Amino acid sequence: MDNFSFHNPTKLIFGQNQLEQLQKEVPQYGNKVLLVYGGGSIKRSGLYDAVLNQLSEIGAEVFELAGVEPNPRLTTVHKGVEICKKEKIEFILAVGGGSVLDCTKAIAAGAHFEGDVWDIVTKKHLPTSAVPFGTVLTLAATGSEMNSGSVITNWETKEKYGWGSPHVYPKFSILEPVNTFTVPKDHTVYGIVDMMTHVFEQYFHPTSNTPLQERMCEAVLLTVIEAAPKLLDDLENYELRETILYSGTIALNGFLQMGARGDWASHNIEHSISAIYDIPHAGGLAIIYPQWLRHVKKLGLRKLNQLAVRVWSVDPNNKTEEEIAEEGIQKLEQFWQSLGAPSRLSDYDIDDTNLDLMADKAMVYGPFGNFKKLMKEDVVEILSKSL
Ligand code: NZQ
Ligand code: ZN
Repeated sequence: MDNFSFHNPTKLIFGQNQLEQLQKEVPQYGNKVLLVYGGGSIKRSGLYDAVLNQLSEIGAEVFELAGVEPNPRLTTVHKGVEICKKEKIEFILAVGGGSVLDCTKAIAAGAHFEGDVWDIVTKKHLPTSAVPFGTVLTLAATGSEMNSGSVITNWETKEKYGWGSPHVYPKFSILEPVNTFTVPKDHTVYGIVDMMTHVFEQYFHPTSNTPLQERMCEAVLLTVIEAAPKLLDDLENYELRETILYSGTIALNGFLQMGARGDWASHNIEHSISAIYDIPHAGGLAIIYPQWLRHVKKLGLRKLNQLAVRVWSVDPNNKTEEEIAEEGIQKLEQFWQSLGAPSRLSDYDIDDTNLDLMADKAMVYGPFGNFKKLMKEDVVEILSKSL
């Protein structure tokens, strides 16, 4: 294992009837609250009214930033930063999916910075503080509710980058499975693909002796693989929503990556696709990830074989290691396709026109990937095989 220290300060509040915890949590940070949300799902579900009721109980002065886009945009972050600075906002409450949470993180850091928040996203400036914020999560996918990462898109320049800071862990996150009941089937699938890919990204790393980390990853995968098809047949099943919601958090809150740094190249490639085509993050992952696995197959035979046998129940007898690995990759593809996830870039009408541009965008910080360093020709090959 690599040396590590672990500290995750987010208070996770999980279960039924937890929204009233807002009355206890929010006043610790202030009275002037900026409520950040997306395109309207929380109004349709009634969560918006419920949150406002809680905030009015504590006499909070509430300002609002509505309309955060899926793949949240820099222009919206700018609006939030402006409100925070002008109104001297003391606390931000994000209510929504990963996009709303990520946008809130950028607003929180940007409000404490004199320059342009894009400099934070592009890592030219390291934040030293942020407005405190909490979240009420409505979609199981990103893990943003309990991590310090955020992904922001500059639509004008067609750039989408992840950034992070210890100052943007949520102070608390309220996770009620019922708040995910209204997530439509397609976004439920995307969330499942995203959390599974987060686990895979952390499974593939160059560090030796991580048997517990590997078993923990496999446990999350097996749990999601068992629950996902049942959930898609029964979208308002409390226990299945509960299982998937908790899995999404565990998949990317740091628990699985203690002692080893994961690969994350596929996420980087996907961000360069959605920067140009604005496709759902996990739609891109479902297409890219199996091709990345094939690209690193020779290097990753031990882990690919382990995954194939332990997670996908591949029978290893009388097969070469390469055959076992390939069968495991095919099982993954079949599983995601059985859920209804896309499998080719052409599913989004993406052809080879911008292939070179996407590869250049992915390469902006140089070669990347902690399990296998990818050069531009690797990225082009993975994208070409995904067309
Ligand atoms: O905008 P509203 O109206 O709320 O609708 C959203 C949106 O259209 C809808 N939705 C959310 N909760 C709902 C709901 N609809 C009905 N009922 C509910 N309860 O779902 C749509 C997608 O929401 P979004 O927040 O975009 O999805 P997700 O949570 O998958 O977030 C995706 C973003 O997170 C980034 C991605 O790149 C992408 O920009 N990521 C963030 C990470 C992180 N912070 O750690 C890691 C991830 O790998 C990922 O890159
Ligand atoms: Zn992801």
